[in-house]
Amino acid sequence: MAKLNPEIQSVLDGESEGCIVCADCLDVMKEMPDGCVDAVVTDPPYGSAETHGKHLSSVVPRQALGFGGICEHECIELAGRFVELGRRWTVFTCEWHFLEGLYRAGLLVRFGIWRKPNGAPQFTGDRPGMGWEAVAICHSSGKKRWNGGGKHRFYTHCIQVGSHPTQKPVALFSEFVADFTDLDDIILDPFCGSGTTCVAAKKLGRHYIGIDINKEYCNIARDRLLGLEGKRLGSQHKHKGFFDVEG
Ligand SMILES: C[S@@+](CC[C@H](N)C(=O)[O-])C[C@H]1O[C@@H](n2cnc3c(N)ncnc32)[C@H](O)[C@@H]1O
Repeated sequence: MAKLNPEIQSVLDGESEGCIVCADCLDVMKEMPDGCVDAVVTDPPYGSAETHGKHLSSVVPRQALGFGGICEHECIELAGRFVELGRRWTVFTCEWHFLEGLYRAGLLVRFGIWRKPNGAPQFTGDRPGMGWEAVAICHSSGKKRWNGGGKHRFYTHCIQVGSHPTQKPVALFSEFVADFTDLDDIILDPFCGSGTTCVAAKKLGRHYIGIDINKEYCNIARDRLLGLEGKRLGSQHKHKGFFDVEG
């Protein structure tokens, strides 16, 4: 077995706050021992060729994204590995029609809904617009516990334009981090892009391991994290308005 990336090892050993590693996460996740992180919070590449290609081709040309979306069986395989790596929750955005496969594979505890008040309208005007994305919520074996009490599964946050073509709102991922992880936990994001999960983790006093195959996105992530130096907000996540704080 190849040796684990030393930056990742140092986070796992509690010697470093976090790291961004430029690599293929499929290779790296093979080297990581089972149960080595507390949680996986991620945003794998998704969006069917059909969606991007047929309806939005003039708005978001698929080839401009520079990465392809995963298919259902890849999603299920990935989720299976995530719950092996994480000691507790795995939370990730995905195609809504992958949810049944995840459920049938025994992986899905709940699905959440990211409601996007400023989501694109239905350009064709012949059916209702979407305005939401699915969030798969899975758990490794063992007793479940989260920080959301009796809260419902709805996450309402506006889309914000960032330096990554599919950058997610920090406020959305901060809510995932606050709900599903504890202070000082280690969070893995194997598809970190511009580092939104890692920014949320750092702000909330968690450790992070971000992996992306694209060097440019890794550099953006590192810059965003550098920009947070000295701005850790710790337990302030309970205060009204916290989730609107951007990285
Ligand atoms: C949906 S984007 C993540 C965006 C991120 N949540 C953000 O806010 O910036 C998915 C990312 O997965 C990366 N990716 C695709 N295949 C990968 C692989 N095999 N290993 C690591 N990263 C990969 C892409 O480069 C892309 O940045």
